[in-house]
Parts: sequence; structure tokens; C-alpha cells
Amino acid sequence: MPDQTGAAEVETVAVPTGPVPPATPPPVQALPAAPPPAEAVSGRAPVLPPGQFHPVEVRGLQKSFGLVEVLGGVDLDIQAGEVVVILGPSGSGKSTLLRCLNMLERPTGGSVRVLGTEVTGRRPDLVGLRRRVGMVFQQFNLFPHRTVLQNVMEGPLTVLKMDRDAARDRALALLTRVGVAEKADVKPRRLSGGQQQRVAIARALALEPEIMLFDEPTSALDPELRSEVLDVMRSLADDGMTMAVVTHEMDFARRVAHRAVFLDGGRIVEQGDPRTMLAHPESARLQRFLNLVYWHGEPAPLPAEETPGAS
Ligand SMILES: Nc1ncnc2c1ncn2[C@@H]1O[C@H](COP(=O)(O)OP(=O)(O)OP(=O)(O)O)[C@@H](O)[C@H]1O
Ligand SMILES: [Mg+2]
Repeated sequence: MPDQTGAAEVETVAVPTGPVPPATPPPVQALPAAPPPAEAVSGRAPVLPPGQFHPVEVRGLQKSFGLVEVLGGVDLDIQAGEVVVILGPSGSGKSTLLRCLNMLERPTGGSVRVLGTEVTGRRPDLVGLRRRVGMVFQQFNLFPHRTVLQNVMEGPLTVLKMDRDAARDRALALLTRVGVAEKADVKPRRLSGGQQQRVAIARALALEPEIMLFDEPTSALDPELRSEVLDVMRSLADDGMTMAVVTHEMDFARRVAHRAVFLDGGRIVEQGDPRTMLAHPESARLQRFLNLVYWHGEPAPLPAEETPGAS
């Protein structure tokens, strides 16, 4: 497989028209301040002064499997505390894009900088990267033979080398946070899908990541279990977590995300404020996609009084 060492230098990008967040957000090493509300952010993250960086900086990202090009040059910045939803039809490259951010897939072109480090280099620190970038998948991927508590303690014990008592305290606190502390001592198969997914989120959080990636975290769940997972994700967003979320949950996109990115054919076709974009898609491709999503039972667009600027 071709190895992309990538240009380490990151160019600045032009900011599109429209309101933008403050020009000088804090350095990402600090706990990120929550960005402005969704309606204040549109388009790409703002240009930063020299020496500062966004948690995620993707330039010209390409990924091919053999002769099949899956990502055809994606540019994407995610700023500290920003929640970006990635939308797109099946096969458009959404999962591949996420997986390239934590090197579960190796790009075949372009550059990916995460938390200031070029991860497409020759010898990326994958353990360090995955500690700082948590990922939650559609299928929860819990260890079936371990209890819920052991699943969440695993990372702190093995990756962070925490002592057992501290790891246990952290795991219990996280299980409490996601609302499944009473299931700590049972095996995952005894939990509902929504509970398992919340455990998976707790497990990812146990490494205290600075970025969280979610790949269709509610797609495998019955509708009534989705909201409990989405609530946990919303609370993470409220706490200022930097998040990239592949989802078909349009309500989450409109109410929680700061930016929506629509991917089709391995390219970003449209991006911007989720409410505006989903209510008034510019491209025919996004319009078609939204028609399909709504046709399959998603809630109708927000009523006029809930759209930004409406009184
Ligand atoms: N390991 C792989 N080997 C070969 N082709 C792959 C591999 N992973 C993904 N692909 C192909 O890349 C394309 C994009 O896949 P990807 O999983 O990123 O799409 P997606 O947008 O996440 O789709 P979905 O909504 O169905 O999850 C698809 O055509 C898929 O078949
Ligand atoms: Mg996918």
C-alpha cells in the first residue's frame, strides 16, 4: 500500500463569507472553550495565527482501495470544541474519512494533522493518537467475556498504566455519567443496545480523549434506544468535546452540531450551518439525499419558529 508521508506544512485556508467564530481561539492543548452556538458558525473553521492549530486539519485527503478511489481530496478543519456531523449516502466515504483521522485507514494522499501532529508520516505514534482520539462504532465492539466495568477499566489499565483502584474509580464515574453504573458487574450481552453503546462511549472516554469520533453510533439501535445515546453525546458536546459524528440523525445534526458536512463520491459537496443547510440545501445531490432520509421516516424539518433568525 502506498505510504503517504504528506507535507507537514499546513496551509491556511480562506474563510467563506458569513459570520465566523472568534479569530483567535485558544491553543488546543488547553481545555477547549465551547464554540459559538450553531447558528454563528458556517463553513470551515477560521484561519489561525501561525503556531496555532485546529485539533483536526485535513488537506487533500485521498484514499483508494486498489484502483477504487474512495476519498478524492477532502479538506476539513475541525476547531476545538466544535461538533461536526458528516452526512452522505452509503458508500460516500464517511467511515473511511473518520478512520483516516485515527489511522485505522492509511491515506493514499494528502495530509492529516491531529492535535498538531502529522499522522500520515512514516512512523506515527498510533498508541498516542488513539489515546487522544476516541472512537465509537455502530457495532459497540465490547469485549463479550468481560464485565461492563472491566471493559471500561481496560484502557486505563493497559494504555495509561493506571493502578487498579484509580482505574476502577474512573470507570465507575464514567458509567455513572452515561447512566449504566448499575450494570457494572454484568456482561455486555445482558444489556440493551442503547446501554451497550453507552458503555462503549464510557470506554472511549476512559482514556480522556481530546477528540471523539462517532461512526453511526445509533444506527444499530431501535428508535426508542437512540435518544439515550444521543443524550450522552449531546452532554459531551455541551462539555466542549471536539467531535466528528457520522450520523443520519438529522435532529441531532440540527440541534447539537455546529457544522454539517455532506460527502458524496468521496468529496465534500456542501458544508455549513446544519439548520440552514438541511432546510435549504444548495446542491441537487444534498436535496436528493435529504428527500431519501426523510422518506425513510426521519422527522420533518424544524418548523419555522425553530429556525435561526425566526421570531
Ligand atoms: N477495506 C476496504 N477495501 C475495499 N473497499 C473498501 C474498504 N473499505 C471501504 N471500502 C469501499 O469504500 C467505499 C466507501 O466506504 P465507506 O465505508 O467509507 O462508506 P460510508 O459512507 O461509510 O458508507 P455507509 O453509509 O454504508 O457506512 C465503499 O464503496 C466501500 O465498499
Ligand atoms: Mg460507514
